[in-house]
Amino acid sequence: MKSKTRIPAAEQPLSRAGTDGKANAGNVPFGIYIHWPFCKSRCPYCDFYKEVRKNVDQESIVSKYIDTLNSYRPLTGDKTVTSIFFGGGTPSLIKPCLIEKLISHIQKSWPCAADIEISLEANPNTDTPTLFPDLKTAGVNRLSLGVQALNDADLKLLGRTHNLKQALDSLGMVLQTFDNHSADLIYARPGQRSEDWEKELEQISGFGLKHISLYQLTIEEGTVFAGKGIRPLEENAAAEMYSFTDNFLNRHGYPKYEVSNFAVPGFRSRHNLIYWQGGDYIGIGMSAQGRIRAGEKIYAQEYGQPLEILTPEERAEELVIMGLRLTDGLDKSLFRQRCGLDFNSFVNQKNLSTLVEHGFLEDGKAFVRATPKGFLVLNKMIEELCS
Ligand SMILES: C[S@@+](CC[C@H](N)C(=O)[O-])C[C@H]1O[C@@H](n2cnc3c(N)ncnc32)[C@H](O)[C@@H]1O
Ligand code: SF4
Repeated sequence: MKSKTRIPAAEQPLSRAGTDGKANAGNVPFGIYIHWPFCKSRCPYCDFYKEVRKNVDQESIVSKYIDTLNSYRPLTGDKTVTSIFFGGGTPSLIKPCLIEKLISHIQKSWPCAADIEISLEANPNTDTPTLFPDLKTAGVNRLSLGVQALNDADLKLLGRTHNLKQALDSLGMVLQTFDNHSADLIYARPGQRSEDWEKELEQISGFGLKHISLYQLTIEEGTVFAGKGIRPLEENAAAEMYSFTDNFLNRHGYPKYEVSNFAVPGFRSRHNLIYWQGGDYIGIGMSAQGRIRAGEKIYAQEYGQPLEILTPEERAEELVIMGLRLTDGLDKSLFRQRCGLDFNSFVNQKNLSTLVEHGFLEDGKAFVRATPKGFLVLNKMIEELCS
């Protein structure tokens, strides 16, 4: 991706009222991501930004987050907040009273949609039996549980601090407490057999969850797994497991809507759709970032950094990368609305035609989408379109 244009602090639009002046002109959704970078321990596969600390002064971090939220208020203008997402790290370690403080601050500071989605990622090993009801009282209305595996041997292999019983107990509590829920699982684990994965799929699709995220294990540089020389599944085996997973969940009431995400119709993650469809969002907390279109300008926001301006081409490339992850594909009119460029003129025409001819892409008037065959080589295809 090309480098962004840095703009001096004095030229940043932080002191100017808004943008379009109206609530989300063109109904562009607007999300706020709050990152909590602290974890109880480091999982050997994880390369997300995180810190493992005994004493975390939660109150002062939350007050700093509130100051930062205030600093972005003029940039976002009166955009209506359609989702808030507490991600990690481990945001279920935040005291529920502080979650409530952040939510109510956002609700006081911005117009908020009546059906706002407020998600939180939780790890299953909570020491507080009332955590989930407390989070619900705090305003969270969608809970995403990091189950990761449904057997003790693999939970241990993944270095998780919870066991199967804790995962199932937490799932039971989540299902009892919330109407909107999700679980994360990692598959293609070292030595994992397809028949064992099928059993886990049967189990996870039988709980009545509204949403399931299934990630193929990636071996990231600098992690313990990489240091141990653990290798990801070989390409053909990974593709086979991916297609099997996709078909299985489709047959069990969870059609895929994004590369790794499956949902009961009507329960897609609205917040994550903002990233995939190029909506507006800001990110608070270490390593969090945002994108805001204000008038003709597209701002790249990164926590603790000055704002930068993206060129239409830079944003266009991001929109292609994200949009083609959706099974619905990339909406060409949204693309134009978000970056100001025409999709077919932006992408490499010759490569687009070849990809369509070979059955990797469908190029319609309104949408362009990956075929099942295209999903297996998505990154390569995106590279060709943006070359
Ligand atoms: C922000 S992370 C962690 C959320 C939460 N702290 C947890 O561990 O459950 C979100 C998800 O990314 C997935 N993930 C993290 N590292 C991964 C990796 N190397 N390969 C595949 N999935 C990964 C896990 O399923 C995890 O639940
Ligand atoms: S997987 Fe989750 S709990 Fe484990 S280190 Fe990463 S963010 Fe923390």
